[in-house]
Amino acid sequence: MAERIDGRARAAEVLEGVKARAAAFSAAKGRLPGLAIVLVGEHPASLSYIRSKEQAAGRAGLYSETHRLPATVAEDALRRFVGRLGEDERLDGILVQLPLPDALRQEEVLAALPPEKDVDGFTTLNQGRLLAGERGLRPCTPLGVIDLLRWHGVRLDGAEVVVIGRSRTVGRPLALMLLEEHASVTVLHSHSQSLSDDVRRADVVIAAAGQAGIVRREMVREGAVVIDVGINRIGGKLVGDVAPDVAEVASAMTPVPGGVGPMTVAMLMANTVEACTWRS
Ligand code: GUN
Repeated sequence: MAERIDGRARAAEVLEGVKARAAAFSAAKGRLPGLAIVLVGEHPASLSYIRSKEQAAGRAGLYSETHRLPATVAEDALRRFVGRLGEDERLDGILVQLPLPDALRQEEVLAALPPEKDVDGFTTLNQGRLLAGERGLRPCTPLGVIDLLRWHGVRLDGAEVVVIGRSRTVGRPLALMLLEEHASVTVLHSHSQSLSDDVRRADVVIAAAGQAGIVRREMVREGAVVIDVGINRIGGKLVGDVAPDVAEVASAMTPVPGGVGPMTVAMLMANTVEACTWRS
């Protein structure tokens, strides 16, 4: 039976570290690191995510403020709003919760964020820095996945890692970060001919497709490490992308909930203290 990789426990440790850094910053500079959360509309999952982010900011001793804008806000007005937050000296990090309502273009809205406050790492500049291997703010979910693997003592150097999913927020940046760790990376996605052969070879399988049960037991090699990034709501229940019986063959696996999710939130707080340290 797979060992459980406890994302809640690791996230609590990360938040303790953030809290110490935030306290040191505050003692030196006379203000707390600040985070602004922008939510447009009432997407139910987003409401729950921003609540977790507000709570984590409080636990880590950060200043945070949440701005809720109606789904009918004009793109221009939203860009100006985000731009004003960008100029606010009390704020070190700004995140615009995604997805945005259909009428708003994500690229245009994110472009209004100053890259040095882009704690989600979603702006074009920060994504380019990641590609170039330069220092910058990096997306939180991939940061959380890499941290969990390291914490669990998984060797990535030379490892065969399969990432399922090629999203701009998870799959693609994660593949780049795994390359930096010297892993051999295969990215699979909805147009891939077959998942099974590639997944069966993998030492580490990372599922970020947003499709419940896409990783099945017979696909996974005995002893592989399995990281489940999926969050799917099925009949009012949260399930990941990995079938539960994969735990019978994996050596270690993250649960859903309680795996990668809390790590995304913890890494957002880590990025916020990182951003405030760089800015000052
Ligand atoms: N929506 C789902 N995940 C995320 C995330 O990590 N950041 C933001 N801003 N929106 C999201």
